[in-house]
Amino acid sequence: MATPHISAEPGDFAPDVLMPGDPRRAMRIAETVLQDATLVTEVRGILGYTGTFEGRPVSVLASGMGMPSMSIYATELFRFLGVERIIRIGTAGGMAPHLNVGDVVIANAAHTDSAMSAGRIPGVHYSHAPSFALLAAAAAAGGVTPGKPKSEPPTTTARRRRRARTGAVYVGPVFSSDTFYADRPATNDKLVAHGTLAVEMEAAALYAAADAEGGEALTICTISDLLFREESLAAADRELLFDRAVQLGLAAFATA
Ligand code: HPA
Repeated sequence: MATPHISAEPGDFAPDVLMPGDPRRAMRIAETVLQDATLVTEVRGILGYTGTFEGRPVSVLASGMGMPSMSIYATELFRFLGVERIIRIGTAGGMAPHLNVGDVVIANAAHTDSAMSAGRIPGVHYSHAPSFALLAAAAAAGGVTPGKPKSEPPTTTARRRRRARTGAVYVGPVFSSDTFYADRPATNDKLVAHGTLAVEMEAAALYAAADAEGGEALTICTISDLLFREESLAAADRELLFDRAVQLGLAAFATA
């Protein structure tokens, strides 16, 4: 059945779905990464495509911005459209001081200030966590092993140069915020002191929807800007580095 926000039928979506925030990015992934992609939904301009990658069916659908939007699309995909696994491919603001633009953060947990979380199980501070299988597969594809400290700062010039070119891959917690334009240095300082790597706006809702609907989920973010330094990715680099996160997501689907 078509859902209130997706004009597709069961079978139109593959069991595995990549979710960027931006509909144009969904279109770009469909056109440049997937083979034989066809448009399966376009309600509200939230474009969804199904194609294949290396012979496996894969879909891509934009989530829009923020947790209510992500929650609607993820819930409808899991509940009505036969989707089993969703990987969000997004951008995030770097919070921890060792992060650089272009680094990738795979979110092994998502703290949140969202009221959606507070009301989920009354009286409980819900833990938003990804699928262990997808997390382990994406971390392995990104060359992150448990022995490598997640907050290792660049210590040598060679490592710094290498990072500037390709970015490092980290596994750690993100903060899923309801607010983009917030002025809360004290909150940010405490989150960083508690090991939080980056801020974005969707991961917690995706992880909660997967838990509620019996699906699996993961978030892989490219760091597009830094909270502690005036710096952001140039448009060309943004696409290049974003593609790297897409490849990590596709590798996770193939190997998890
Ligand atoms: N805040 C929230 N979401 C984001 C940011 C940010 O600074 N950068 C990219 N996504």
